[in-house]
Amino acid sequence: MYFSKIKIQNFRNFENLSLNPSPKINAIIGMNGTGKSSLVEALSYLCKGKSFRTNHHESAIRNNEDCFFLFGEKEPSISVGISRSRRSDLIIKIDGNSDCKLSDLAALTPAQIIHPGDANILSLGGPKSRRAMLDWGAFYHKKDFYSIWQNFSKILKQRNAYLRKGCRYEYLKYIDTEFVRYAELIKSLRAEYLNELLPMMTEIVDSFLPEYGISFEIYHGWDKRKELSEIMRENYDRDKIIQHTGYGPQRADLKIKSNGFLVQDLLSRGQQKMLITAIKLAQGLFLEKIFRKNCIFIIDDFASELDNRKRDIFSNYLLNIKGQIFVTAIDKDLVKNIKLNDNCAFFELKDNSIIKESK
Ligand SMILES: Nc1ncnc2c1ncn2[C@@H]1O[C@H](COP(=O)(O)OP(=O)(O)OP(=O)(O)O)[C@@H](O)[C@H]1O
Ligand SMILES: [Mg+2]
Repeated sequence: MYFSKIKIQNFRNFENLSLNPSPKINAIIGMNGTGKSSLVEALSYLCKGKSFRTNHHESAIRNNEDCFFLFGEKEPSISVGISRSRRSDLIIKIDGNSDCKLSDLAALTPAQIIHPGDANILSLGGPKSRRAMLDWGAFYHKKDFYSIWQNFSKILKQRNAYLRKGCRYEYLKYIDTEFVRYAELIKSLRAEYLNELLPMMTEIVDSFLPEYGISFEIYHGWDKRKELSEIMRENYDRDKIIQHTGYGPQRADLKIKSNGFLVQDLLSRGQQKMLITAIKLAQGLFLEKIFRKNCIFIIDDFASELDNRKRDIFSNYLLNIKGQIFVTAIDKDLVKNIKLNDNCAFFELKDNSIIKESK
């Protein structure tokens, strides 16, 4: 599945923009401030219902306008519409049906977004962003993952509400039985996904960072030598004081190490960006290979933090991807390897519009 048409209205610096992308590679070129990130941010909304650079949907509405509107036509024949006004929530429409959730959108279009902010995921992002990377894959890997996660989240919410009320532990026993049941399910689905992804991920990571022997391990959110039910009981008083649940899959983390050290304490910023790029590439390619489901790759500022050699490695991977790719750069020369490909479409941005288009 790929986007054959994209329309953008009153989004960031664009009043009206439409493009008919190539099913394969699309390079978006323009000077600073011409709207490259905004264009791929619009794509991020069409694939995931959210931005990769802000949680404030409102900031994406064009100055002095009331509402942004995004439309994507996907082959074979599905349409997606996203709108957000200053007064209401995000509205997601799939094939005209406006009753859609973020998960419907995500199920329709797996997308991996690689952007300059990735350089901070390991050092500043904390467990939440690493957990999100892992769960992105677990979501597509096993159909049940999402509903199990939803059920778990409801129970966690209930448990935290009881904690805030200061209830006695007896009242929580039933909740904790369910909590542990779903926690164990999430643990095994995450572990299964990482296990299957590992050979491909290790190969790709090693091609970017051969000298580091990087390893991956999941911290599932509690001490693996102990039963979770026991941990929940033992920590009840502590949980009551902090008013939330301190252990469980909501605290999981993907521990990435080299030589026994966490990579965030070892690798340079550029190397951390490379590592995240490699992980995201591997996750998308794994989906493509195992499930024959094409992932859309959106790469903002292709050259960011990568030296010439790493750009070549990255380009080679991109050229072998079956799904659709959108890549931005300030200069055509930065994507010279990609440019040579027959299936590459070019869009040059200036003055808030596309001034040159070639296929
Ligand atoms: N809500 C908004 N309304 C109007 N313009 C906006 C809005 N939000 C951002 N902009 C402007 O949109 C322009 C494009 O920004 P964008 O980040 O997309 O540029 P870019 O091409 O990615 O630049 P760079 O090469 O520096 O990354 C900027 O001038 C920015 O100030
Ligand atoms: Mg940008």
